[in-house]
Amino acid sequence: MLSLLPGEESTYLSSDSICNQESNSELAGIAKVVLKKGKSQLFKDGNPMVYSGAVDRIIGRPPPKTGDIVLVADGTEKPIGWGLYNSVSMFCVRLMQFEDEAARDSLSALNIEKLLETRIGAAVELRRRLGLPSAHTNAYRLINSEGDRLSGLIVDIFGDVAVIASSAAWVEKYKAQIEACISRINDINHINWRPSVDILKEEGVDASDLKEIHSSTCPERSKIMENGILYAISLKGQKTGFYADQRENRHFISRISDGQKVLDLCCYSGGFALNAVRGGAVNVTGVDTSLPALELAKENVALNNMDPERISFLREDATVFMKSALSRNESWDIVIIDPPKLAPTKKVLHSASGMYRNLNSLAIQLTKRGGLLMTCSCSGAVTQSGILLRILQGAASMAGRKITVLRQAGAACDHPIDPSYPEGAYLSNILLRVL
Ligand SMILES: *[C@@H]1O[C@H](CO)[C@@H](O)[C@H](O)[C@H]1NC(C)=O
Ligand SMILES: *[C@@H]1O[C@H](CO)[C@@H](O)[C@H](O)[C@H]1NC(C)=O
Repeated sequence: MLSLLPGEESTYLSSDSICNQESNSELAGIAKVVLKKGKSQLFKDGNPMVYSGAVDRIIGRPPPKTGDIVLVADGTEKPIGWGLYNSVSMFCVRLMQFEDEAARDSLSALNIEKLLETRIGAAVELRRRLGLPSAHTNAYRLINSEGDRLSGLIVDIFGDVAVIASSAAWVEKYKAQIEACISRINDINHINWRPSVDILKEEGVDASDLKEIHSSTCPERSKIMENGILYAISLKGQKTGFYADQRENRHFISRISDGQKVLDLCCYSGGFALNAVRGGAVNVTGVDTSLPALELAKENVALNNMDPERISFLREDATVFMKSALSRNESWDIVIIDPPKLAPTKKVLHSASGMYRNLNSLAIQLTKRGGLLMTCSCSGAVTQSGILLRILQGAASMAGRKITVLRQAGAACDHPIDPSYPEGAYLSNILLRVL
């Protein structure tokens, strides 16, 4: 019997069977993070992010270092699970496996390589069940951080390229192990790393260690297919290179666009606009400020042999465009607006609400009576606070129009969210009828 967890002989992380994988001395080197009394329910319920304010004491010599495996225990020292420690971040431990899971999957207990294999394997299996990849879609999210129980790790698949976005120190530490797992997935030939530098600095990772790593055999530009539409993507473009989260919402637009005049604001590489044309829209305008994004959008029109008479792109600020369109008394049957993240933190929620209201008020005015507005927010603070519908109502009042809500969606199903970690939900996509 291990002496690690005194008085708790019934729990798995203290049981003898763990000795089958790890030697006693190794286990004895694992520190134990004991939570304050009354602070452990959140984590027992599944939230993986143990913030330092919840920690009472850390038992173990020498003290754990960033990236080390630690046990997490409640106020009575009863283990809750194990995770990866960070000595700098406000998140002291990211819980990787809970006690009951360790009992069911003993091989993964306290073993990061095995755990990665299990979790990545489960993620691949889940996407297969969701039909990803398929004959018409080969761009999707394979690992969605907490939603796939790998907090801090995002992996997007674009054809035979896996793009790994790290936002946790442990991901950087176990790079080789992660890469080994990903490279074993069928059809993956290239792996690129896109570290989230600002977040990783807060995780205590030395910024000089953080470089984008692009597989030397992998071209910078690639082609993917989503919903049967081809896209040129830049693997050095925004975020991982392509936003797979709107896939189902884009597809929805293709279903309602027949014969319609469509405006796609903040269109990036034209996803909604292209789906509208595919769905039979007669006149589609995309607007964005980013030149590289618009170049991709135009390339996408050609790639899909779409009639350039029916789809055009303009480089302009969305607000400027909307105001001048209003002054020309122009209107659209369907308007889509997918602005960049306007509320990066809760602190700026109030001022961001005003920006969302103003943008949406203009978008509502540009929508014909009886027309549709698909409006999005990718600000976690807005989505989680649940205030978007109120903002939209404010925007409608400001515009002197009436709206009804037809559809409320988020990110596509390959972006799972753990309800015990609601901070994982960021995207809101609301379809309004505008009267
Ligand atoms: C499409 O709509 C725009 C904006 O209203 C207009 O300028 C353009 O002439 C239209 N194109 C066609 C082919 O109708
Ligand atoms: C603006 O357009 C609407 C129809 O779209 C029309 O009924 C109205 O008279 C126009 N107003 C002006 C000032 O041109």
